[in-house]
Amino acid sequence: MESALTARDRVGVQDFVLLENYTSEAAFIENLRKRFKENLIYTYIGSVLVSMNPYRDLEIYTKNHMERYRGVNFYEVSPHIYAVGDNSYRSMRTEGKDQCILISGESGAGKTEASKKILQYYAVTCPASDKVQTIKDRLLQSNPVLEAFGNAKTLRNDNSSRFGKYMDIQFDFKGAPVGGHIINYLLEKSRVVHQNHGERNFHIFYQLIEGGEEDLLRRLGLERNSQQYQFLVKGNCPKVSSINDRSEWKAVKKALTVIGFNEDEIEELLNIIASVLHLGNVQYGGEDGTACITTDTQIKYLSRLLGVNGALLTEALTHKKIIAKGEELVSPLNLEQASSARDALSKAVYGRTFTWLVNKINASLAYKDDSSKHYSVIGLLDIYGFEVSKTTGNFEQFCINYCNEKLQQLFIELTLKSEQDEYEAEGITWEPVQYFNNKIICDLVEEKFKGIISILDEECLRPGDASDITFLEKLEGTVGGHAHFVTHKLADGKTRKVMGRDEFRLLHYAGEVNYNVNGFLDKNNDLLFRNLKEVMCMSENKILNQCFDREELSDKKRPETAATQFKASLAKLMEILMSKEPSYVRCIKPNDAKQAGRFDEVLIRHQVKYLGLMENLRVRRAGFSYRRHYEVFLRRYKSLCPETWPNWQGKKQDGVATLVKHLGYKPEEYKMGRSKIFIRFPKTLFATEDALETRKHGIATKLQAGWRGYSQKSKYQKLRNAGEKSLISIVFQAYWRGILARRRAQRKRQAANTIRRFIKGFIYRRKERCPENEYFLDYVRYSFLMNLRRNLPKNILDKSWPTPPAALVEASDHLRTLCMQNMVWNYCKKISPEWKHQLEQKMVASEIFKDKKDNYPQSVPKLFVSTRLNGEDINPKVAQCLGSEKMKYGVSVTKYDRKGYKARPRQLLLTNDSAIIVEEGKLKQRIEYGTLKGISVSSLSDGLFVLHAPSDDNKQKGDVVLQSDHVIETLTKLAICGDKANNVNITQGSIKFTAHGKEGIIDFTPGSELLVAKSKNGHLSVLKPLNPHLNQRRSLP
Ligand SMILES: Nc1ncnc2c1ncn2[C@@H]1O[C@H](COP(=O)(O)OP(=O)(O)OP(=O)(O)O)[C@@H](O)[C@H]1O
Ligand SMILES: [Mg+2]
Repeated sequence: MESALTARDRVGVQDFVLLENYTSEAAFIENLRKRFKENLIYTYIGSVLVSMNPYRDLEIYTKNHMERYRGVNFYEVSPHIYAVGDNSYRSMRTEGKDQCILISGESGAGKTEASKKILQYYAVTCPASDKVQTIKDRLLQSNPVLEAFGNAKTLRNDNSSRFGKYMDIQFDFKGAPVGGHIINYLLEKSRVVHQNHGERNFHIFYQLIEGGEEDLLRRLGLERNSQQYQFLVKGNCPKVSSINDRSEWKAVKKALTVIGFNEDEIEELLNIIASVLHLGNVQYGGEDGTACITTDTQIKYLSRLLGVNGALLTEALTHKKIIAKGEELVSPLNLEQASSARDALSKAVYGRTFTWLVNKINASLAYKDDSSKHYSVIGLLDIYGFEVSKTTGNFEQFCINYCNEKLQQLFIELTLKSEQDEYEAEGITWEPVQYFNNKIICDLVEEKFKGIISILDEECLRPGDASDITFLEKLEGTVGGHAHFVTHKLADGKTRKVMGRDEFRLLHYAGEVNYNVNGFLDKNNDLLFRNLKEVMCMSENKILNQCFDREELSDKKRPETAATQFKASLAKLMEILMSKEPSYVRCIKPNDAKQAGRFDEVLIRHQVKYLGLMENLRVRRAGFSYRRHYEVFLRRYKSLCPETWPNWQGKKQDGVATLVKHLGYKPEEYKMGRSKIFIRFPKTLFATEDALETRKHGIATKLQAGWRGYSQKSKYQKLRNAGEKSLISIVFQAYWRGILARRRAQRKRQAANTIRRFIKGFIYRRKERCPENEYFLDYVRYSFLMNLRRNLPKNILDKSWPTPPAALVEASDHLRTLCMQNMVWNYCKKISPEWKHQLEQKMVASEIFKDKKDNYPQSVPKLFVSTRLNGEDINPKVAQCLGSEKMKYGVSVTKYDRKGYKARPRQLLLTNDSAIIVEEGKLKQRIEYGTLKGISVSSLSDGLFVLHAPSDDNKQKGDVVLQSDHVIETLTKLAICGDKANNVNITQGSIKFTAHGKEGIIDFTPGSELLVAKSKNGHLSVLKPLNPHLNQRRSLP
């Protein structure tokens, strides 16, 4: 609305409540005219949308338009049907209350178009998913189907809805449309058999004939010429320029598929439509007054299409069956009776099929998600408009106008009620507005026992010769005195001239309408002869089978009359609407010629009157023309008052009070509610709006001139404001900043001192401990110890150790010893007895050979074995000779003869007391340890050794020259067993020995491989290999 205010002078006002002269109908019409001329077809009266039919396609229904209205406040954009749709949707979402949109207006005013626009708006703007899309499609596609079967070309409207429709759109918690439900009201069935001049039957008949495929028409027995069918010729209007039946046919077929009809169902549906046309062509003849059918082909088609027995159908179309006192009486019909029986059947078949169609659509729209039963609803009511005709009305028009009376009553009640509720809620006192309450007319029609419908029913039900005229007489007798009821008999002379004797006039809220009573009783009875019902109950057509229920035949109770049924359905509709939050769309038809741009003032004034728009405006304005929440009002106008600009800090209501005081509002011009301000006159608001415009210009200029200065200043202002507001916080901040700065300075001072002391200490580091270097020395010690801690030797073989500073060398050595002891201690604790024995032997070997014999290092990593000869290697005779003497170690050796130095394989066995040389089964030489004088080996890497044994007497063999591949191991074992560790001589040069009283010499020289042989000088020459790995003995032959 705010944006509307700016543009108000250009194209009237966008909201009638802003009309200064709001009581003037002329001003109202003028505003409509101004806007209509500019193609501005929508205008508000508060929250009610007035919509003019433009009769041309306007570019205001695009996707962009939909987006523009989506989620935007009702008043912030120009009036539109989408704004109504969006407002209802948002109210449903935010307040969780079901909504309904009531679209009213006379035939051709644009109700159906408006409801379709709303449906399209939801289909495009609401959240979607695959499942939702199906429902959206079905909702949209239900329209072409229902329009094909329920709309027709009338004089007023080429696509006139001939039934009332209330459609619920169901939304889930996410706001997505998930289902729908349609309630239909009173289809104008009489159109099936009769149309006024210039009107047509329901669209579907023409669509089928024009668009139906050749094949299909052949199956249905139809010709592609609507003029061949009696039910289509009455209005003499086969073609309508605005309607393309052929393309509509395609659209309808597609829509049927989308909704979920299968091929069979479509076929059966079309069979029914075709059979209605064939029924229309059933002709009667007969000379004696009784009717007989003269068109047998029609019966053949009917029998096939309806799935009924042809003879039974013929019988039923020409005879009447009555059950009286339990007996069936069949009597022939005369021509007139037979024709009306045929028409009654046609209407019944079509009417019931239409209801079946609505049910079928409902089944396809049903919300099927069982997991969440809850959904919100927006209802769309598109119901026939008031029909004020220059010609007299009939039974259907009576019902339609009664429906509009009811809706008007609801409208008055709800608008007044909601207005009153708002004043009450806001604590505003107000004077109720006088308006015409049409309850009196509603009562005239529907009151029990006394109302027109009751009297009509009474006439229909009573036995005897009741007729339309007796009904009229009854009316005169019962409601004759009513202020809104007139008949020819009761009227004054002037009225009599324009009234027939078979008419009654109702003074509706929207105008006077004369109704001709002819046909009232028949239509109200809506009777179908029993035998026709019986035939239809036997139909093989599945749809008809559902439409005509056998139970109906056995039900003795008379069915409710049409008017009573309609009354009940309207009462239900009122209940539905009352339970929802209503929004209104009031449609106006600009001219009767269906022409774009033509503004027929008389016609429009009439609609404005009967739609009660002036009353609506009066009610709205009686209180206050404008109301807004304090917050919204303050936000918009706060710049107009220095106290509220740029921000008001206190309560919003106080801010608004300050603002309006500053603006000079007089007390009678406004009222302050609990949450809103109410402004009585538009001119007050306009003055405020003008002031705002001027102020905006001022602000813009100022901003352009000094934006930089302004922004800096406002920044400074903000800072200062903040400071003033909170002195304590500034003091506290200053104090805290002081602490932080002092801490920082102290840390810097400390750091400088440390660096200074460090440098001084470095300079004095070699001096005795003194104050100058003590910090440095401590630091160096500390860092050495910390470094040592991180780099201690990993195991006893790891000899690494950090280099200590000069002052800590002694301490470092101590630590190192301690560390090693500790590691050794830990190591010893962990070793096994076997390993200990091994190490003890290795220790002995080390003491004897380390750094003395070349092949010692290679022996270190090789473990000493306990013996190299096992039981099976020892000859049993030797074992026998040893007796209980236990062998501690045995090894294969080579013995060199004393004379020729011939090499002989021998075994060397070590026992507790002796070293024994064995040759196969013989103990060749026993040397007791006590007699063993020493052991000689070379310092080289050979395996020769000499055991020095006594040779004083001849019995003694003397020294023995042996060679072992495990010389270190063998001699270590021997040294341990014989306790000879100190008697092992490792000689650099030759070894002398004595055997059998003679001396011998062994010479050692380096060579490529081990070679032991007697040399020319009679010595035993041993070539020792340079590479210890080649330490394989090779004897010369
Ligand atoms: N907003 C619109 N824009 C363009 N044309 C429109 C608009 N509204 C209505 N019309 C035109 O007016 C015709 C009649 O409108 P519609 O069928 O909606 O009337 P109605 O109020 O439903 O009438 P009835 O009571 O007879 O069903 C439409 O067929 C269309 O040609
Ligand atoms: Mg319509």
